Amino acid sequence: MNAVVYASKGGNTRKLAEAVAAAVGACAQPVEEVRPFDAPIDTLFVGGSIYAGKIDGALRKFLQGLDSGHVTRIAVFGSAAGNKSALDEVRAILTGTGITVYDRAFQCRGSFLLANRGRPNQDDLNKAAQFAREVAGT
Ligand SMILES: Cc1cc2nc3c(=O)[nH]c(=O)nc-3n(C[C@H](O)[C@H](O)[C@H](O)COP(=O)(O)O)c2cc1C
Repeated sequence: MNAVVYASKGGNTRKLAEAVAAAVGACAQPVEEVRPFDAPIDTLFVGGSIYAGKIDGALRKFLQGLDSGHVTRIAVFGSAAGNKSALDEVRAILTGTGITVYDRAFQCRGSFLLANRGRPNQDDLNKAAQFAREVAGT
């Protein structure tokens, strides 16, 4: 079973999360509403953007609470105004937990103020879905 959990202050990462979820037959859950998993998760897709150089605080707390008894592997996706991805921070949080972090993230530009207008666009969403299918092996 796969799951998708994301943090999105402005809606950009929510769009990616919905594309990822549709691609792997899961439902996209905002981190504020996520409930304990009732079955073991093979791949947990984690969507996170960058705010002042870091991931969202609620997403960080959620990740800190995970254990390898419930989640085997995590794949990261997200958007930011620049190039920075959440992958390094997610990997650092999960070091020593026994949860594998997929070594590649899907990352695209997200609109911010006047920058990156219209992003993520349909091409970004298609690529996010393709990434998810590759990771899930479907
Ligand atoms: C308060 C705030 C701080 C941000 N800081 C950064 C940053 O340090 N680096 C960056 O690349 N983008 C930064 N951004 C841009 C967001 O990462 C980008 O707009 C992203 O697509 C937001 O995703 P969301 O709509 O899912 O929240 C910031 C955005 C906000 C609102």
